[in-house]
Amino acid sequence: MTTRAMTVAGVMSGTSADGIDVSVVRIAGSHPWRKKRAKDGAPSSPRLTLLAHEGFAFPAALRRAVLAAMNAESTSTAELARLNWRLGLAYAEAVKETAEKCKLRLDLVGCHGQTLYHLARAERYAGRKFACTWQAGEAQAIAAELGVPVVSNFRPADMLAGGQGAPLVPLLDYVLFADAKRGRILQNIGGIANLTVVPPKAPLHAVLAFDTGPGNMVIDWLAQELFAKPFDRNGTLAARGAVIVPVLKEALRHPFFKLRPPKTAGREQFGRAYAARFLDKCLVHSKNPHDALATATALTAETIARSYARFAHARMKRSAVDFIVSGGGARNRTLMNMLAARLSPLGCTLSESDAFGMPAEAKEAAAFALLAWQTWHRLPGNVPSATGAKRAAILGQVTYA
Ligand SMILES: Nc1ncnc2c1ncn2[C@@H]1O[C@H](COP(=O)(O)OP(=O)(O)O)[C@@H](O)[C@H]1O
Ligand SMILES: [Mg+2]
Repeated sequence: MTTRAMTVAGVMSGTSADGIDVSVVRIAGSHPWRKKRAKDGAPSSPRLTLLAHEGFAFPAALRRAVLAAMNAESTSTAELARLNWRLGLAYAEAVKETAEKCKLRLDLVGCHGQTLYHLARAERYAGRKFACTWQAGEAQAIAAELGVPVVSNFRPADMLAGGQGAPLVPLLDYVLFADAKRGRILQNIGGIANLTVVPPKAPLHAVLAFDTGPGNMVIDWLAQELFAKPFDRNGTLAARGAVIVPVLKEALRHPFFKLRPPKTAGREQFGRAYAARFLDKCLVHSKNPHDALATATALTAETIARSYARFAHARMKRSAVDFIVSGGGARNRTLMNMLAARLSPLGCTLSESDAFGMPAEAKEAAAFALLAWQTWHRLPGNVPSATGAKRAAILGQVTYA
């Protein structure tokens, strides 16, 4: 017996604060109440087809507000309440436009929201020690606009089960890419870069995932600061520079890179303050702004390659490995060339996720469509071996239309 197939929109806006991605997927699967699960407790595997994907840039004023609110030392309650509402309106508009454009009737929406704060490791506050997270964006605004139920607030359930609340994309990575013969690395390069390790023939609990460090975050900041560009389109600016080796070497000594997974990174470690210090160090050696960009690009490539070599390669049991890149960073040619140079000696074939039927910009949004589908059917969405949670958990809340 199978459930009725559902058309589900996933909505993602990441730490780059560049805008909103909406992916619409068709999901069908075995009946969730049949409790037919694999021996390792993995949920019955759904089948997923991407129907449409659209990207929407944030209006400049909204982007400024999001960047100012992320990890702000001080802001006002009014500011946060209004931003939360404004984001909800932006998500609603983006989903509506996507549904109209592709003429699809949606059954469900999964909205990640905008992370304004993510404290993965417990700290003391008001007499208690805890980790916490906050994704903003009023879900009711989407439900009201579209008349469709919305699943949101995915991360707290995992954190309250002892996990880091991230990454949550591994379930999709497993459903779409697990292979009997080939090892698969699903590398996303957004503001932060993270990878999912799916060894050949792996059960779900053998999946490992973690953040590798900065993705486009430092590159974006330098492109803005040095060239007044929002990002280094196709990596052309970095391609004209040379890597400043002493700066790269020193940057690689950051304690985050030595931590064993599971681990998560954010603007707390690699945001504006980090990028400004990085630039100062580059300027000591070279006044050529292209060199600073080349060095930041090399930092992303090198930390990804080292993460693979150190924490993933041994799990691949000497099989051939597809290293599949998604996120905006997949479009940075210089970064991709650096990655290919480092990874091919390790037996990896580098490609963009587009080659596997999932455009680089669409994957994370598609993941939140799948997670919404899981929650709708009261199935867990986190992968405990990826987040460090003690148990699988049903993620988020449903806002009924
Ligand atoms: N054509 C391109 N060339 C180089 N970099 C790009 C390109 N398109 C997008 N990017 C990079 O990808 C980032 C957005 O990636 P995305 O996957 O949306 O990240 P996030 O999930 O953090 O929002 C941009 O900020 C930019 O750095
Ligand atoms: Mg984005």
